Amino acid sequence: MMLLSSVETTFVEDQASEFLARMLRRLGSDSLAALKPVTSEPAAELTVIPVADPLALSSAERDALTASFRSRHGVAAFALTAPPPLGSLPHPLLALADQLSDRLGLGFPLTHPAESAPFVLETFGRSDGTTKIFDVGGMSHEALTPRPLPPHFDGTGNACGVVAFGLYIDGAPGQAPVNYFQNIAVLALDLAAADEEAFLSLFLPDAITVLWQDLRISRPILFLDPDGQPQAWFRAPDAEISVAVRPGCPPLERARAFIDEHTRPCAHGSSYIRLDQVGGGCLVDNTATIHGRTGYADASDDGARRILSRKWWVRSATDQNYRICPGTRIDERFGRLYPELFGPESLADGWVYDAEAGRNVRRGS
Ligand SMILES: [Fe+2]
Repeated sequence: MMLLSSVETTFVEDQASEFLARMLRRLGSDSLAALKPVTSEPAAELTVIPVADPLALSSAERDALTASFRSRHGVAAFALTAPPPLGSLPHPLLALADQLSDRLGLGFPLTHPAESAPFVLETFGRSDGTTKIFDVGGMSHEALTPRPLPPHFDGTGNACGVVAFGLYIDGAPGQAPVNYFQNIAVLALDLAAADEEAFLSLFLPDAITVLWQDLRISRPILFLDPDGQPQAWFRAPDAEISVAVRPGCPPLERARAFIDEHTRPCAHGSSYIRLDQVGGGCLVDNTATIHGRTGYADASDDGARRILSRKWWVRSATDQNYRICPGTRIDERFGRLYPELFGPESLADGWVYDAEAGRNVRRGS
C-alpha cells in the first residue's frame, strides 16, 4: 500500500474518483468492468480526411474533423487535395484551424518565439505564424534533427496550458517518419481495472519530475484541469531531458512501466500516421494524447526535405504569453493544497534550477 499523508490522500483519491467518473461518462460506460481494454486492440492507422479548401471547409469536412479529434485517439488527420505553394498566406494549418476554433477549443493561438527565430527568417524570408521544424544540421535541439522523438506532450514549461497543437507538412522528405499517438487518460483506465494502486499513484502531486531547459518540473501524471476535466501529462527521456518518477513508490514504478510499454511506436491501443505528402497534417488533443515520432531521412538526390509546420493553442488568454515556468495549472480545489507546485508564483515566468540548492529559484533572487 502507498503511505500517504492526509493531504496527499485528499489530493490523490478525490481527484482520481472524479477523473474516473468523468472518463466513464465521456466514454458512455457505466463501469470500469464494462469497458473493453484499449490495450487489447492493435495500433490503428488513422483515417485521413480529405480537405478540398482549407479556407472554406464544408460542413461534412468540419463534422468529420471534429469527430476524429473528439474520438478516443484525440487526433484528426487530414490531407489537402490541392495544397497551396509554400509561403502562401494565411498558412493553410491556421486557416483550417480558424474554422474549427469553436468546436475544438482553438480560440487562443500561442505565438512561439521560434516562429520568428533568425534561422527561420533566413530560410523562409518571413514568419507565417507557425513554428518550422526541420533538420537544421549541426548541434541543435532534438526536434530539429531527423532523429526519433520519444513520446511527449507539447508545452512542457507552459504549465500544461497547451490544449491542442496542429502539424502540417510543407515539405515531404525522402523517407517519412511515423507519427504515433496514445491517449493516456483512456489508457490509464486499463491500469485502473488491473492495478488500482498503480492507477492512484499517477495522481501523486509529484508523480513525475523532469529536468528541462534549466528547470526542474514536478507534476502529477493524471489530474483535473482548471475546469475540472481529466488531463494527462507524461514524457520519456531524450538526449536533453531527464525523467524520473517519485522514488520509493513501487505502484508508481509499475504504472510507469505500463505507460512506457504502451507509448512505444505502434503499441496496442495507439494510433499512427505517416505524413509523407505535402498538404498532410493533423490536429491533436494535447490534454490527453501523447505523441512521438520515429526517425526520418531527407532525400539525398533531389533535395526533398521534411518541413513541418506546427501551431499551439492554449486554454485561455491567461496562458497566451509564451513562458517557461515550473508550475502546473490544475483544478484550484486541489492546486491550493500544494502552492509550491500549482500556486500563482509557480506559474510565473523567470525561474531557473539551482543544482546546488536542489530547487528552482527566481532569476535574479
Ligand atoms: Fe511534440
